Amino acid sequence: MTISRRGAITGAVAAGAALACTRAFAANRGTLGAAAARAGRFFGCAGQIDQWNAEGDLRDAVLAETDYLVPEVELKWAAIEPNRGQFAFKSLDGFMNFAARNRKKVRGHTLLWHDSVPPWAQAQLRENRDWSAIGEYFAAVIPRYGGLIDQWDVVNEPIETGGRMDGLRENVFLEAFGPEYIDRAFAQARQFAPNAKLMINEYGIEYDLPEERDRRYLLLKLLERLRDSGVPLDGLGIQSHLDLRKGSVAVNAVSAFLKAVDDLDLFVVVTELDVKESAYTAPVDVRDRFVADEVRRYLEAVLEQRAVTGVVTWGLCDRHSWLKVTPEDLARFPGAWTHGGGPGLNRGLPLNAAMERKPVYFAIKDQLSST
Ligand code: XIL
Repeated sequence: MTISRRGAITGAVAAGAALACTRAFAANRGTLGAAAARAGRFFGCAGQIDQWNAEGDLRDAVLAETDYLVPEVELKWAAIEPNRGQFAFKSLDGFMNFAARNRKKVRGHTLLWHDSVPPWAQAQLRENRDWSAIGEYFAAVIPRYGGLIDQWDVVNEPIETGGRMDGLRENVFLEAFGPEYIDRAFAQARQFAPNAKLMINEYGIEYDLPEERDRRYLLLKLLERLRDSGVPLDGLGIQSHLDLRKGSVAVNAVSAFLKAVDDLDLFVVVTELDVKESAYTAPVDVRDRFVADEVRRYLEAVLEQRAVTGVVTWGLCDRHSWLKVTPEDLARFPGAWTHGGGPGLNRGLPLNAAMERKPVYFAIKDQLSST
């Protein structure tokens, strides 16, 4: 099956959907996807199609464990439209064909993100304050895959603490169009995707740190404003990049925040769960326990909330994670690795580099199925 034209695969996907669901869930027995389905939720992971194509063991694990797939890099503006009007859809089409062939759903991550605006678009938005660059990009990408993408992160990371009173990040979109760029992006996304869920996606709301307290407050204010203005916003993605260097997750604050989001009639997805480690010198089983315990505490609080419909991890195995052990990490433990090596990979995802299930896998599974 190929996707060369707008909506070409919609029919096929819709026709096979009911049967596919049954089949997928049966095949997933004992997996994260199956655990989530038992509780009426979904499980997914992000990743890159090139890696899935090249590594059979990873591909098998992804296919077995998930209901949803999320393109880690392929669906970002800078990747899709390197020059105005010249669209580079090869990787994304590959990703979407893989999803369609294997009857997975896809989260569309992401439409507007300050960190992935092609340089030509940045220049143009700044100079002309002209929406047409965004309009043409939305028109090219949103309808292209029909209904296969049923959740869109329309705006990613709109909040910036310590700046403006309304908490909006001073990005190129704000500079060009003011705070209403968000309203406009949602209205336009709705035109092209009448049936998809349209979402804001944000990070850094998990800890009892001044910055994260502010972010929870400012994000809630933004969601309230969008709701009050009738913007077609359906849900909130909480990225959930846990970080053991920050201490423990503030479960009460997170619960209260999610209740407030629920009160706005918005659903919530854990969109990018993973864990940055801290104690790299500890034995591996202790490190894995730290990671698993924190994820357990976090998901226990999060999945208690009925607004939360699913969990997505940012990657599936430690072989590929955007979270790396950095020179700064190593510098915190002078003399620890005299052999010149290091602690190996960051161990913040469900499977290790050999595709074996780690304690955090079972923590996620337990929490998904216990609610
Ligand atoms: C990251 C990818 O994982 C990297 O491979 C890429 O180089 C940069 O983007 N929050 C997000 C994601 O919303 O899109 C980011 O993904 C990680 C942080």
